[in-house]
Amino acid sequence: MFNKRVKIKELLTWEPAQQEVTVMGWVRTFRNNQFIALNDGSTNTNLQVVVTLGQYDDDFLKRITTSCSLKVTGTVIPSQGKGQKLEIKANTVEILGDSDAEKYPLQPKKHSLEFLREKAHLRFRTNTFGSVFRVRHALAFAIHKFFHEKGFLYLHTPIITASDAEGAGEMFRVTTLPFDNPPREADGSINFKEDFFGKSTNLTVSGQLEGELGATAFGDIYTFGPTFRAENSNTTRHLAEFWMIEPEMAFNDLEDNMNLAESFIKYIIRFAMENNREDLEFLATRLAEEEKSLPVDKRSEMGLIEKLEFVLNNDFERITYTEAIDILLQSPAYKKKKFQYDVKWGIDMQSEHERYLVEKHFRKPVIVSNYPKDIKAFYMRQNDDGKTVAAMDILAPGIGEIVGGSQREERMDKLEARMKEMHIPADELWWYLDTRRFGTVPHAGFGLGFERMVLFVTGMSNIRDVIAFPRTPKSAEF
Ligand code: 4AD
Ligand code: MG
Repeated sequence: MFNKRVKIKELLTWEPAQQEVTVMGWVRTFRNNQFIALNDGSTNTNLQVVVTLGQYDDDFLKRITTSCSLKVTGTVIPSQGKGQKLEIKANTVEILGDSDAEKYPLQPKKHSLEFLREKAHLRFRTNTFGSVFRVRHALAFAIHKFFHEKGFLYLHTPIITASDAEGAGEMFRVTTLPFDNPPREADGSINFKEDFFGKSTNLTVSGQLEGELGATAFGDIYTFGPTFRAENSNTTRHLAEFWMIEPEMAFNDLEDNMNLAESFIKYIIRFAMENNREDLEFLATRLAEEEKSLPVDKRSEMGLIEKLEFVLNNDFERITYTEAIDILLQSPAYKKKKFQYDVKWGIDMQSEHERYLVEKHFRKPVIVSNYPKDIKAFYMRQNDDGKTVAAMDILAPGIGEIVGGSQREERMDKLEARMKEMHIPADELWWYLDTRRFGTVPHAGFGLGFERMVLFVTGMSNIRDVIAFPRTPKSAEF
């Protein structure tokens, strides 16, 4: 009966009173042939298991090595050691799986995050990744809780699609056609009618278009699934496979959309603060340690917990794109030519510009709205000025863009005209346009990049360290 085990996190809340328990986990360290630090992944805090001297022969004790797996039955007693309330006095110790200490790649010492990325199949067994992935779990759970409480319907949008939701052409093709000799049309182009789906298909870049179909029937929906972008961006903020949360709301405008996004972000942060305090405190200490090696002016002004509290307790700043450009043009950084990329109305702001706004100028999350239409997607609602669209991005300190959203163009004539201008094939999106044909309504939505959110909450600095098995250019190990 394996299920009779007590998880260490739960056990550590007990009052020690000679209870008989069974625990299972992996050995972190074994000292003096007597003290086992056992970890089962439920918390970073190891359980001390005390083996009575003389109870086992040397050959058995030698097999208790870092990362071997154990089943221990014993009694819960008050701990003599400092920093722990209780420990287990072992009655029986069973080795479930041996582990050759010479070959096990992780030593009970500090490893660099780069090294651990190469060992991503084992890095969950470290404290840093233990905390990161428990926080990631909590955020995912909080996301469903938030939307469920607000009466949103969780819609599973497809992963394989024939459309490009963002119109940016950054798609991974899905095909079963042979590479060496694909069927061809008379003009030499590939004949996708012969392909598995009878047309050219790709992995989705966003569930939004299907999300709009859901919103125009259910009112409020959200998606939460993997999305794929074949953009060759080798940065600490980009993945080729990432998870995105996309709510879509009927009877909703840009301001409603911004309000929802802000309260959503605060809700999930609050949930993690209330439920994962121990992990966040561990990550806060880790971050403070890591930053000690940086020059003073490169260190964060606030600790991790302080930063999260600050975000919870302050309104996000809201400015228009035009105001953002003005701030940049007035900035000492611009005047002293500190920006690598030029600033003028119409540019797609680079991360150096976004980070100036949030980190130097406002020092808090900023919602930028009403972007030039030429740098945004075809589905965004056109403003009366003829130049901008009802878009909004949320920029977070240390991250840059964390949310991208908009009010959608619900007017058929305007949408069709814009699609034509942008060479978006209207015939392939006939089903999308049907929402505008049959009872169109004002509606809006946004996408939150889940890994960027996890980065923000955990204080980690590389997006490869907050997803279990990162997919990035030239890398798809594990
Ligand atoms: O701004 P994006 O491209 O917006 C959309 O996809 C819309 N369809 C969303 C919507 O309105 N329903 O992407 C949304 C967010 C970005 O703000 C960013 O946080 C994240 O997704 N994101 C990425 N995260 C990791 N790696 C990448 N390559 C990302 N590209 C976008
Ligand atoms: Mg965007």
